[in-house]
Amino acid sequence: MRVTAAITAVGGYVPDFILSNQVLEKMVPTTADWIESRTGIKERRILKGDGLGTSDMCVFAIEELLKKRGISALEIDLIIVGTVTPDLVFPATSNIVSDKIGAKNAWGYDVAAGCSGFLFALASGTQFIETGKYKKVIVVGGDKMSSIVDYDDRSTCIIFGDGAGAVLLEPNTEGYGILDSILHVDGAGRKYLHQKAGGSVKPPSHETIDAKEHYIYQEGQPVFKAAVIGMAEVSASIMEKNKLSSNDVAWLVPHQANKRIIDATADRMGLPAEKVMINIQKYGNTTGGTLPLCLWDYEKKLKKGDNIIMSTFGAGFTWGAIYLKWAYNS
Ligand code: UT7
Repeated sequence: MRVTAAITAVGGYVPDFILSNQVLEKMVPTTADWIESRTGIKERRILKGDGLGTSDMCVFAIEELLKKRGISALEIDLIIVGTVTPDLVFPATSNIVSDKIGAKNAWGYDVAAGCSGFLFALASGTQFIETGKYKKVIVVGGDKMSSIVDYDDRSTCIIFGDGAGAVLLEPNTEGYGILDSILHVDGAGRKYLHQKAGGSVKPPSHETIDAKEHYIYQEGQPVFKAAVIGMAEVSASIMEKNKLSSNDVAWLVPHQANKRIIDATADRMGLPAEKVMINIQKYGNTTGGTLPLCLWDYEKKLKKGDNIIMSTFGAGFTWGAIYLKWAYNS
């Protein structure tokens, strides 16, 4: 019997502090209506507090997951973190997370794949379960986007928020879990969405800080166009590849970057709105956090055997989709 990697628990965390569209209206030249109609976002969460970073949100999400599943951190074999806002350039955030939760028997690494970080990490973690090498793999996606957002730039500060979500992968021999993935990268897209300074090409300096090059640089329109095409196509492709009709699909779990991108993807897949997970109105775009935070919010509605398509598009460009069969009733 084929061994698949099933999601057996979900955890999530969003900070308490809410940054609403109404407050943003007072910070940059925009209106709450413009933000909501162009993106679907009403508010987003911001992580406040000295010394707190992405790892802290990942830790909260994982601790909830461990409690739900009734297992100890010592049982974890591997922790993979999808993030673009690591606590430090090095070492990896996974090292910090495993230290903070006491996962003394785990190793781990980070996946830097823009908004596709969680999806790419999930596809990677799946391999370690399918080969039989490990029994408990945690995949966590989280970002403290507020650490790289310029709150004077109305085209980006309205979109992003902070948050993290985590899933536990365990072996399954009954056909549940991750069944297929299609993953893509097009490095030529990097020019439209990146952070100009802080890496080895342009190390941080007074000049780069003055030029605000440590913040997100995004050309919204080209990213939007590529995202609509990429996410819709890859979602339709994974359905075709697995001979799934829109009736067979119980849920679409889309990356939450812009409601209009999500709607275009659902349209292309022939899915009605009630089959599409949406929480962008509450959290904005949490980058690595969006997909697991959707599962976290919708977990109680999911039924064992549900066919789920997760899909994403992000900086890089990176994009992809995963087809999975949900493994439990809550
Ligand atoms: O998850 C990572 C991948 N990222 C994405 O998927 C983001 C994809 N892009 C988008 O979601 C959209 O492009 C944005 C939400 C970023 C921008 O929306 P848009 O409808 O594409 O706006 P635009 O950039 O085409 O700008 C249209 C107009 C411009 O004014 P003019 O030049 O027509 O006078 C902008 O200056 O809207 C203006 N604008 C704003 N107006 C009010 C841009 N941002 C704002 C704002 N409030 N916050």
